[in-house]
Amino acid sequence: MRSNYVAQIATVILPTLLFPDHVSALTYNSQQEDTIKAAASKQAYAMMSWYHGNETGQTPGAFEFSWWEGAALCNAMLNYWHFTGDDTYNDELSLALQWQGGDNGDYLNANFSQYAGNDDQMQWGAAAMTAAEYKLPDRSSGYSWLSLVQGVYNNQKDNTEGWDPSSCGGGFRWQKTPFQGTGYNLKNAVSNGGFMMLAARLANYLNESSYADWAEKTWEWSLSVKLVNNQTWDVGDSVDGSESCKTVDQTQWTYNYGVYMMGCAHMYAYSNDTKWLTALNGLLDKLWSTFFLAKYGDAIAEITCEGSDTCDRNGMLFKGLTVMWLSNIALIVPSTYDTILAKIQSSAVGAASTCTGEGNGTCGVRWWGSYDGQSGMEPDISATNVFSVAMLPFVNQSEAKPATQSTGGNSTSDPTAGTADDDSKTTTPISSGDRAGAGILTVALVGGVVGMAVFMLMGQ
Ligand SMILES: *[C@@H]1O[C@H](CO)[C@@H](O)[C@H](O)[C@H]1NC(C)=O
Ligand SMILES: *[C@@H]1O[C@H](CO)[C@@H](O)[C@H](O)[C@H]1NC(C)=O
Ligand SMILES: *[C@@H]1O[C@H](CO)[C@@H](O)[C@H](O)[C@H]1NC(C)=O
Ligand SMILES: *[C@@H]1O[C@H](CO)[C@@H](O)[C@H](O)[C@H]1NC(C)=O
Ligand SMILES: *[C@@H]1O[C@H](CO)[C@@H](O)[C@H](O)[C@H]1NC(C)=O
Ligand SMILES: *[C@@H]1O[C@H](CO)[C@@H](O)[C@H](O)[C@H]1NC(C)=O
Ligand SMILES: *[C@@H]1O[C@H](CO)[C@@H](O)[C@H](O)[C@H]1NC(C)=O
Ligand SMILES: *[C@@H]1O[C@H](CO)[C@@H](O)[C@H](O)[C@H]1NC(C)=O
Repeated sequence: MRSNYVAQIATVILPTLLFPDHVSALTYNSQQEDTIKAAASKQAYAMMSWYHGNETGQTPGAFEFSWWEGAALCNAMLNYWHFTGDDTYNDELSLALQWQGGDNGDYLNANFSQYAGNDDQMQWGAAAMTAAEYKLPDRSSGYSWLSLVQGVYNNQKDNTEGWDPSSCGGGFRWQKTPFQGTGYNLKNAVSNGGFMMLAARLANYLNESSYADWAEKTWEWSLSVKLVNNQTWDVGDSVDGSESCKTVDQTQWTYNYGVYMMGCAHMYAYSNDTKWLTALNGLLDKLWSTFFLAKYGDAIAEITCEGSDTCDRNGMLFKGLTVMWLSNIALIVPSTYDTILAKIQSSAVGAASTCTGEGNGTCGVRWWGSYDGQSGMEPDISATNVFSVAMLPFVNQSEAKPATQSTGGNSTSDPTAGTADDDSKTTTPISSGDRAGAGILTVALVGGVVGMAVFMLMGQ
């Protein structure tokens, strides 16, 4: 697809470290790899400045205020490394991603079980799946990336705290227990679409039909209660099990589309069944018309909360995950590539032109208008994602395509992972030496990245 060159540039200011008062202009340009890499690198640094899990006395990957945000951060870090090749943060990232798997390797981390829902657990599984697909080497001890995903998958499908046939003929609840509040009654899109996504990604990675069966079952259930409407391709947010799932809450969130689209894309890659391509294209068209609006320069906007500046921590993360998943879909289903690339580019340009805050190019929540003053870890995570995936045209597509076992993915599989009596060979104790080693390596590398990567993004 032909894209508008004028809309692809925004101005970036690059101060040198030696002369901090001197700022030289660097123009963010979707056609120029170095400017995109510089923006991604600066954002990754800003994002990691919120992370303290590698410090003495802290727990790798843990954010006490919101457990799943660690998964969002790990996913963005994986994405940054995958599309830019900069592995500066990989040791910290890899340790965090494994640590949070908990004792049983299924991301039921006992420290957070009081409020972790099926969706939170799924998000950690999704980050581990990304690690496997991007070929992050398994750690030398402890759970493999793939076994952590299989742990989530088995735990959720085999347990009524996950798949729950007691109302509406099935589906995954949002929360796992009634003690977790009203969310227990709800069966929500991200838990169901998220499980479908994990199952479809496992089916594709392992070429294994049992996973595909569960992806299909979850998809069919979602259609049956109209969480996904296969006429309009609207994706709702939830249905209420206590009233037989009769009414769909139609609140619109980008990532609810994202998880189902990923499920469809991987099922299409796995099966070549055009039913999945039809669904994927339907969902993509609905995503464009709902969240990529001309009045916002075609940059992705979390429309339910952005216009009123009412996005909470969660809402600030959804579009970053969605653009990451779009980049994967473009590589897995090439017929979607041109359209997706144009939407990623308009979003990244929007981000580049609004990341002008705090005198140092801090990003806000919105990627349209001007800097909105809403700085924080979540906007930094989302911006890291969008600049990373804007590298799409500059990577070797066959190498960047999420791997499967037949294309070089070698994370160790454990089909029984996450079952209570699992004593799989993929599990060996994590020694404290691993952790100290990762910390030391990080200190050595970070000095270099500060020198290279700190600069400011300024609007015109
Ligand atoms: C940008 O400046 C703000 C305000 O001084 C500061 O809190 C923040 O840490 C800075 N960001 C980075 C990445 O240095
Ligand atoms: C749980 O919390 C304890 C105490 O902070 C910490 O030592 C441990 O590593 C945490 N476990 C996991 C799996 O995060
Ligand atoms: C997947 O499995 C099917 C059936 O077992 C086989 O025919 C096909 O060649 C496999 N595909 C890949 C990519 O390994
Ligand atoms: C839409 O989904 C419903 C419920 O699963 C199904 O009966 C119907 O055949 C589907 N329609 C199309 C066009 O796929
Ligand atoms: C799907 O079709 C493509 C193109 O014809 C082919 O390369 C691929 O092996 C097929 N995959 C499956 C799972 O049949
Ligand atoms: C992309 O990578 C593949 C696999 O490594 C290689 O065969 C191909 O030549 C590369 N393409 C380009 C344009 O470099
Ligand atoms: C898996 O592949 C990675 C590179 O993609 C490599 O570093 C690692 O050693 C491989 N692991 C095994 C067990 O072959
Ligand atoms: C932890 O990571 C941050 C961000 O990458 C880095 O600045 C810091 O030096 C690291 N600290 C330790 C103790 O490794």
